[in-house]
Amino acid sequence: MHARIAVLGGDGIGPEVTVEAVKVMDAIARRHGHDFKYVTAPVGGNSIDKFGTALNDDAMNLVLGSDAVLFGAVGGPKWDDPKAKVRPEQGILRLRRELGLFANLRPVKVYPQLVDSSPIKPERLKGVDFIIIRELTGGLYFGKPKKRWTTTRGRRAVDTLLYTEQEISRVVRVGFELARARRKKLHSLDKMNVMETSRLWREVATEVGQEYPDVQLVHMLADNAAMQIVNNPGVFDVIVTENTFGDILSDEAAVIGGSMGMLPSASLSSLPPANGKRPRRGGKPALYEPIHGSAPDIAGKGIANPIAAILSAAMLMRWSFGLHEEADEIEKAVEGVLAEGYRTRDIAKQGERVMGTKQMGDLLAGRVT
Ligand code: IPM
Ligand code: MG
Repeated sequence: MHARIAVLGGDGIGPEVTVEAVKVMDAIARRHGHDFKYVTAPVGGNSIDKFGTALNDDAMNLVLGSDAVLFGAVGGPKWDDPKAKVRPEQGILRLRRELGLFANLRPVKVYPQLVDSSPIKPERLKGVDFIIIRELTGGLYFGKPKKRWTTTRGRRAVDTLLYTEQEISRVVRVGFELARARRKKLHSLDKMNVMETSRLWREVATEVGQEYPDVQLVHMLADNAAMQIVNNPGVFDVIVTENTFGDILSDEAAVIGGSMGMLPSASLSSLPPANGKRPRRGGKPALYEPIHGSAPDIAGKGIANPIAAILSAAMLMRWSFGLHEEADEIEKAVEGVLAEGYRTRDIAKQGERVMGTKQMGDLLAGRVT
């Protein structure tokens, strides 16, 4: 197949890890006779330095002209002034908003070889394999009013948590569809004991659930879920929740697998195609990114783990192009190198062989060639 992929490396370790993901996609393309073209543009802090904005219109147009986006990470201490009007994060937020990426898929998988790197007791990690679907274009991130002002009694600020029933039902539906193709269990998280938006969320989730009698819907309070994620992570199959809860809980869930350097994500603007079906081409591209962020402390040292970015490329193959075999090959390659004892610094125990970013990328590209 022919496809154009926008690769936006961004800041910190973003560029280093996306380069390795491109290497692996190239290997896959050669093997299967695909023609992938890559285009690139600045985003985040480096775009601020160049253009004074975290994502300019040229970059946006380049993204809109592509079939999928592979994103690295944005942010760093250089741009961290809380008073700043222009922030690196505005780059990714603009992409989410303008591409309509309402469903953020964050799979949490515990690799048996990495159980010792996890802060959780091994017996609790058996068979843990769930996916968090985070609503990504609503809630506190985008609700208006969102501002800060000064009154005679001091400074004030407001963010707005707003959801429409359409915003809730379309993302909950993604949850049901994915659960249907997996172990048929969907946890919907809210704070209905406190929040009006949560009561609406629960009501709409229950209504949508009537169309999916084969999927078990479990409502759970988000704070309780935070506890279950460390206490009893094996109970989860698919989780769906609003933007801010999903942001926080997905970071929590990420560490149970041993390293944030292992976890990919996909941000979609439509219902994923049913198993075996090809996704619709045309329309706006979906976006794929490692969830680990820019890690400025290790940037440029060549030691970052590229696996999350490489697994994000696998998700891109699967969800944007319907190339399931190619995605499986990448995922199998990762399992293979872990089984053989290859590690990057973040997942290595004492005495284990440690590889750099590029070495790990070369190794995985070699596997899928
Ligand atoms: C994430 C990040 C972003 C978010 C930041 C970089 C804006 O934490 O993707 O989880 O809060 O959504
Ligand atoms: Mg986050």
